[in-house]
Amino acid sequence: MSGAGKRVILDVRHIKREFRMGAETVHALRGVSFSVLSGEFLTIMGASGSGKTTLLNTLGCMDRPTSGEYILDGEQTHSLKRDALSTLRNRKIGFVFQSFNLLARTSALENVELPLLYNSSVSAKERRELAISALDKVGLAHRSDHFPNQLSGGQQQRVAIARALVNDPVMILADEATGNLDTRTSYEIMSLFQELNRHGKTVIFVTHEPDIATFSGRTLKLKDGLLHSDLKNENIANAAKSLAELPIPKDEEV
Ligand SMILES: Nc1ncnc2c1ncn2[C@@H]1O[C@H](COP(=O)(O)OP(=O)(O)O)[C@@H](O)[C@H]1O
Ligand SMILES: [Mg+2]
Repeated sequence: MSGAGKRVILDVRHIKREFRMGAETVHALRGVSFSVLSGEFLTIMGASGSGKTTLLNTLGCMDRPTSGEYILDGEQTHSLKRDALSTLRNRKIGFVFQSFNLLARTSALENVELPLLYNSSVSAKERRELAISALDKVGLAHRSDHFPNQLSGGQQQRVAIARALVNDPVMILADEATGNLDTRTSYEIMSLFQELNRHGKTVIFVTHEPDIATFSGRTLKLKDGLLHSDLKNENIANAAKSLAELPIPKDEEV
């Protein structure tokens, strides 16, 4: 990809996050700084407890740092009031979780429509069209009437990715999004993220699995709340190819 047209999507400067636990203070982030350009596919790695989720929640405007600055797509989040921050989150960020977080008694289509309900300028008809288009992007338009319990884990995660995409956010944040999936399904999901990224979507993917990180262009490692390393991956693995090289399962999913 050429360098033309790239902009800084996010900039974190010396972010600290402390949690008070009675008399004790947990230092989850101890001063983390980095920036991400549009179109990057970044993985964040680190041992359990190293601060990955805390960092991702900060980037996703779900949590505020104790100190430091966070600039999202040119907006200084520090000075934003609660409502303005959630509007910014809804407009700019798509979140994907380890456990999918779909509403159980709600169809795939309605799950994907959810983020649009907060936007009064989108009509019911547009909402439906946008949701179908997002489901189509993840290859699940034909499953739009299914409930989560009628879908496999990989399909549920793809519905969750469609929900994250429906607002056309500037970036997708994923927290251990392959953590509940087998290797084959994980690679399918990574192949989808690579495809979204090829179409220009910025992706930030938290994982503790080294093979998952090989599919991204850059890996940050956290250690005890600090940035331990920030490495460019010159040799990005192709998830679709890795998928094709896996042994064929007995009960192939359609
Ligand atoms: N809401 C919270 N209250 C208290 N401590 C927290 C909270 N969230 C995270 N922590 C602590 O902050 C540290 C980093 O946690 P986390 O960001 O969840 O790490 P990771 O996602 O890398 O496993 C851990 O020591 C964890 O116990
Ligand atoms: Mg975590």
